[in-house]
Amino acid sequence: MRDVEGVIQRVGGQGDGVLQQDGQTYYVPFTVPGDRVAARIGKARGDGYAAALHEVQSPGPGRVTPPCPHFHACGGCAFQHWDERPYLEWKREQVHIALVRRDFDGVEVAETIAVPPGERRRADLVALRVAKKVLIGLHERDGKRIVNMETCHVLDPRLVAMLDPVRDLLAQILPVGAPADVVMTATDGGIDLGLGRISPSMAQRTQMVAFAERHNLARITLLGSDGPLVVRRAPVLRFGGVPVELPPGGFVQASPAAEAAMTRMVVEGLVGATRIVDLFCGMGTFSLPLVKEAKVHAIDTDPNLIAALQTGANRAVLGGQLSSERRDLFRQPLTAKELGKFDGLVFDPPRAGAREQALEIAKSDVPVVVAVSCYPASFARDARLLADGGYRLDRVVPVDQFRWSPHVELVGVFRRP
Ligand SMILES: C[S@@+](CC[C@H](N)C(=O)[O-])C[C@H]1O[C@@H](n2cnc3c(N)ncnc32)[C@H](O)[C@@H]1O
Repeated sequence: MRDVEGVIQRVGGQGDGVLQQDGQTYYVPFTVPGDRVAARIGKARGDGYAAALHEVQSPGPGRVTPPCPHFHACGGCAFQHWDERPYLEWKREQVHIALVRRDFDGVEVAETIAVPPGERRRADLVALRVAKKVLIGLHERDGKRIVNMETCHVLDPRLVAMLDPVRDLLAQILPVGAPADVVMTATDGGIDLGLGRISPSMAQRTQMVAFAERHNLARITLLGSDGPLVVRRAPVLRFGGVPVELPPGGFVQASPAAEAAMTRMVVEGLVGATRIVDLFCGMGTFSLPLVKEAKVHAIDTDPNLIAALQTGANRAVLGGQLSSERRDLFRQPLTAKELGKFDGLVFDPPRAGAREQALEIAKSDVPVVVAVSCYPASFARDARLLADGGYRLDRVVPVDQFRWSPHVELVGVFRRP
């Protein structure tokens, strides 16, 4: 194996430091600009090579001590070694780069809104029974091994506190060598625990009910089965103050602080609109805060999310203000004609973006469109479609929803001039 030595010039789009040496490019994870490093050259990657950090010979100015002992091994975080300021600025820069690639040179990219550690409310983990122990955690970066999570600086501490109890529970259920999925969500009703790839016996199910009691859980669900195993309290999240019961495994914004920032921008962007359509609405994260001031039509492809939202709205006696629809917006986007009923629109698609829907919005007369996205490249592609249809985008705000990861969330407001 060959080594390369040199100074990291910048951090690339996937979060790895970029080292250029003798006309070659090397991508070295866990490095910051200005680090002088030795790295072991690995496989070809894109226009260069992946390289594993071997030694930091002298640290760059932004290097800090990572708070978590699992950092490097655990595949969850990429940036704990980088000072907050340059790290957040890197996220801003990723949005800027994506926009410039689509000819949005003049659009202002605001400073990234920071999100504190210990705040992530959803843990999506894997488990494996090995001899007498059960490992629970994330896979290592680029590997299959599970890094047994003893602590986590990203997750809500209530979720971290459940790791050992869930290990003990699974040690009684899983045969040696068997894997499981562990999905935990911190809700207002308590922790919602979903366990996947397990087939407990009747006696083990009884143990699980006792476990829920002992640890004061809201609910336990066997993922993929019909209905929960035990519900002690409804696992609710509140949007605009309206409680909505989370369907098992249903989409939630990962961080309450990021969600609050995004909701504020969505609501501010749509001030004055009275007939709003919320596309890719999930459980109504944006619909319910908006419904206080406007009639909202909410659309998503997931029937469980739509049902949860509509039930929550009806219970809060907001059913007259909120209507909902199950629809696949990739295959059957709302047409420009259908959009004619609305004077405000928010869309928050999955990572792939919403190309077909953006083409229809671009042909519509909706005066204000707020776009929320977890992927700058698809945001910029869809933004270009809107801009070519005559919409103006002045400013985009990055949000650090996925702290210490290379992922960037962002919000932009488009107006018809
Ligand atoms: C990033 S989430 C946003 C959810 C919601 N806006 C929120 O903030 O909680 C994307 C949503 O798109 C929905 N979705 C995925 N593919 C879809 C499709 N083809 N048509 C409609 N909705 C879709 C998912 O069910 C999910 O609720």
